[in-house]
Amino acid sequence: GFLSADALAGNNLLDVIKKNNKNAVIFYGSQTGTAEDYASKLSKELSARFGLKTMTVDFSDYDLTNFDSISEDTLCFFLMATYGEGEPTDNANEFCEWLENDADTLSTLKFTVFGLGNSTYELYNAVGKKLDQQFEEKGAERFADYGEGDDGKGTLDEDFLTWKDNLFESLKNNLNLEEHELTYEPGLRLEESDFLTLADDNVSHGEPDKTYITGSGDLSKGPFDHSHPYLSPIKYTKELFNSKDRSCVHLEFDLSGSNLRYSTGDHVAIWPSNSNENILTFAKAFGLEDKLDTVFELVALDLTISIPFPTPISYGAVLRHHLEITGPVSRQFLLSIAGFAPDASSKKEVARIGNDKKAFAEEITHKSLNIADALLVISDGKPWSSVPFEFIIESISHLQPRYYSISSSSLTEKTTINVTAVVEAEKVGSQLVTGVVTNLLKNIEIEQNKTGEKPVVTYDLSGPRGKFSKFKLPIHVRKSTFKLPTNPSTPVILVGPGTGVAPLRGFVRERVNQKQNGTSVGETVLFYGCRRSDEDFLYKDEWPQYAKTLGSSFEIHTAFSRETEKKVYVQHKILEQSSKINKLLESGAFIYVCGDASRMARDVQASFAKILSQERGISEEKAGDLLRSYKTQNRYQEDVW
Ligand code: FAD
Ligand code: 2AM
Repeated sequence: GFLSADALAGNNLLDVIKKNNKNAVIFYGSQTGTAEDYASKLSKELSARFGLKTMTVDFSDYDLTNFDSISEDTLCFFLMATYGEGEPTDNANEFCEWLENDADTLSTLKFTVFGLGNSTYELYNAVGKKLDQQFEEKGAERFADYGEGDDGKGTLDEDFLTWKDNLFESLKNNLNLEEHELTYEPGLRLEESDFLTLADDNVSHGEPDKTYITGSGDLSKGPFDHSHPYLSPIKYTKELFNSKDRSCVHLEFDLSGSNLRYSTGDHVAIWPSNSNENILTFAKAFGLEDKLDTVFELVALDLTISIPFPTPISYGAVLRHHLEITGPVSRQFLLSIAGFAPDASSKKEVARIGNDKKAFAEEITHKSLNIADALLVISDGKPWSSVPFEFIIESISHLQPRYYSISSSSLTEKTTINVTAVVEAEKVGSQLVTGVVTNLLKNIEIEQNKTGEKPVVTYDLSGPRGKFSKFKLPIHVRKSTFKLPTNPSTPVILVGPGTGVAPLRGFVRERVNQKQNGTSVGETVLFYGCRRSDEDFLYKDEWPQYAKTLGSSFEIHTAFSRETEKKVYVQHKILEQSSKINKLLESGAFIYVCGDASRMARDVQASFAKILSQERGISEEKAGDLLRSYKTQNRYQEDVW
């Protein structure tokens, strides 16, 4: 978000706390925005229920040098996500390092911690746990118990509510704070403009650019990063599956008009926007149909509150580019919106569902209802017109870029980024539930097929009623550590079922290119899995071409899981190659595993452990340790999601 100039000028946190008379600070370590979201909700609720003077803090926005002299009168709440292999998020990294290496005593700190993690990863919630422990060791006072949530099991929301209930009890019982009925206190004020229209130059159309506010929002000029994407033309799309029900889109971004570059194995971030259909349903649920082109500005009611996107802007542009309007609705959201129900019976109904975990699961979650659908069902179709738009902006998550493993090689395609995206669409009753970017990519694909020509690509800035399908998309590249060995003659073992094959295709293309240029290239052994060879075998026609160049140094082993009665997965195929794999590893081979993080990556690692144990006569435990040491040496790399 944008901090106002005043807040940035004096960005020593302790000074800002004092100057703005705050007594509760909600720190967040956030990578994809979830912890940030929770922080802003908690901040508002602590203020409304307990009259605390709250502010949220992104560690990277403030000077924290004198953090150890924080006042005893300031309650500190830490919402800490764990990322990847037990690491802190980018914005909290420096703080965590300081705490680990340089912090002295923290005897005046009053704290509580909630960790956001994913139990499918080995080091579940490592960051939250560690922070909680380190604070204690440094003499700080814990005013409410540590809590943690699990995104892997899909219980993050409920886990957070449980922790929060417990926290509120502690605030009442241990700190003797008085609790009031929850009412909405806006942090922003919306002012509609009488004279500005979409045609005015300074009105934002939702350009996906955080630097726009400072006037440098030219999306054709770099440097391109998470706050300033490249508006990239799409030069080619193709359906890769041969299936009625499922779809996987191959899509090529054209970088030739820019200086945006990538290297093989990097990720590309695609900036999402919502479809006309979803915008109109949302507008209907909140009675905003006539306002989509109306322009407004936002005023922060407090120096520590940031304006979340550039204004002036139209309602329609906010719905298209800034808000996550189609994701699942949370129980917390229903409880918080109850006060704005359109009539008494809707109010009763929303409170019933919001207060009853089981009813909520059955009537909302299991039906995959999004916010608009849920509210319309609850109110029997009546629009929720009295919900302030400030509330919507402050309560609904803001759209975040989605990452994709680049499936091209920067050696062969210097100015083209390939993406291999599975289009997840789930039918719930009569309704098709799709993801935001998935929906977007599929629409581009469909449009191209219909017209039979290359898509005409112009970014849609014409408001929610504009044509949706002809597009440029905003993207940026995120460097990754998923990289081929520096020496091309090192053998590689590649494991990537489903879309996990995306970056591995890039690797293989890179080695083909090296071979063509006369470099000596080591063995390349690929394990690929999908359901059926004639349905979802990605890049089926390409592999034989690569084999032609690479010769016997290239092998592909396929696992088709639904062609036989018993499931055959990549890990089974890996086990079949036991002695070969052991030999490759003895000669220094690197292992690469890409795709599903929830089970596949773990199962595959177990099969490698089994091979090492069998072939080398060591215990599986020892074999596991060996693989972990490969990981720290970057000889075993994972790109899993
Ligand atoms: P989202 O809108 O984020 O939705 C997520 C899921 O929730 C979807 O399955 C959707 O159907 C479901 N959903 C949406 N609304 C509701 C609702 N109301 N109720 C219940 N469920 C709902 N993906 C690839 O295909 N290829 C890749 O190469 C690839 N590489 C990746 C690399 C990395 C490092 C990471 C982190 C992810 C990668 N992904 C890849 C995944 C990708 O980033 C996206 O998560 C994925 O495409 C879904 O994005 P979306 O916007 O379509 O779905
Ligand atoms: P399935 O859907 O038939 O169970 C790409 O998604 C491929 O990975 C599919 O063939 C899928 O099989 C398979 N797959 C599912 N679970 C897996 C696991 N735990 N390990 C490896 N592959 C798996």
